[in-house]
Amino acid sequence: MKEKIESNAFLTEAYGSYDDLLSFCKHLPKIELHAHLNGSISKETAIQLIDRKGDPSLAQRWASTLEGWANAASKLDDFFPLFKCIYEITNNEEAITYATIQTIGEFSDDGVTYLELRSTPRPNLGTGMTKASYANAILKGIQSASKSHPSTTVRLILSLDRRESTESCLDTVDLAIQLKNKTGLVVGIDLCGPPTDGTAVVFAPAIKRAKESGLKVTLHAAEIQNIDTDTQNLLLTSPDRIGHGTFLNTHAKTHLLTSSTPIEICLTSNVLCKTVETYAQHHLQGLLFQDHPVILCTDDKGVFGSSLSEEYAIAAATFQLRKEDLYELSRRAVEFVFGSEECKRTLRNEWERFRQNNGIGKWTGWNRGV
Ligand code: IMP
Ligand code: ZN
Repeated sequence: MKEKIESNAFLTEAYGSYDDLLSFCKHLPKIELHAHLNGSISKETAIQLIDRKGDPSLAQRWASTLEGWANAASKLDDFFPLFKCIYEITNNEEAITYATIQTIGEFSDDGVTYLELRSTPRPNLGTGMTKASYANAILKGIQSASKSHPSTTVRLILSLDRRESTESCLDTVDLAIQLKNKTGLVVGIDLCGPPTDGTAVVFAPAIKRAKESGLKVTLHAAEIQNIDTDTQNLLLTSPDRIGHGTFLNTHAKTHLLTSSTPIEICLTSNVLCKTVETYAQHHLQGLLFQDHPVILCTDDKGVFGSSLSEEYAIAAATFQLRKEDLYELSRRAVEFVFGSEECKRTLRNEWERFRQNNGIGKWTGWNRGV
């Protein structure tokens, strides 16, 4: 169950009500940089995909898998097996393209102007899907959505899963390089999966090859406790962004602060996976007040039942962020996208237009009322 956001005096004064805050957040242009495709599939889209497969037992298994997770005691450990069921739903190219189009539509309807979708190319022997046909199916979805939802620019990040071998990761990077050159839509690679599986040594050659080819790199890092050596070794690869950064030791924190490496922050994901106890205890506050680059993201909006607008509203209600602060937060994200300079220029203009049309006042530093 998601933590309930209580109304408070700040919220009433700054926005009126939580609903007014949420409506401001929906209206605000936003950038989503950490969204896993299969974790972002909404309940509605999953039901449509299951219907298309015509397998009622899958519908039942999917519902009880999600319910089982909601009741499980140790959330992050139980989180990864969830995908076994979701992958049954998206085990072919047609389903992947459909899931991509629907998911982009949902982000677009939520006011996301620029989206970096990420996904792990996953072969399926049963259906004949290969890593390449999987990635191409997503690109087909992105191209189709660029017509149905032209207000949202979408780029793709290919993920390496920590359960993969060095060879398999290198294959994915080669695929990313090939698709980057062919379409310009693939902009980077990610490292994700169960944080205790694999070691940085396994992934380093693939990360190195990606960087040498001009792909950007984001890595899930320090998502849980007691993986300090792994985090340290991952940071030695000089990622362009990291995801979570929940349990950074002093050394890792100094490294990130000194290099100003942006951190993708997923509030609801961390609270529901119980790596952070409450929103109020989230490391976002410390990073924000140190003026470290952060980007609010959803991680897996389908599994967590959240939206990017909600993540902004939760941050505002928890850390007393005013409209100017939220605007500043979303505006800064433009600088951390993996898209081209031209893409950034277009986004900067869009944010400036929003500021002028909506009377957003001059930003004078984070509200430190909390
Ligand atoms: P996919 O890559 O589109 O299949 O998205 C689902 C996959 O993303 C999962 O199997 C995980 O490997 C990965 N994933 C999603 N959320 C997290 C997270 O919070 N930490 C690490 N990996 C994640
Ligand atoms: Zn993630």
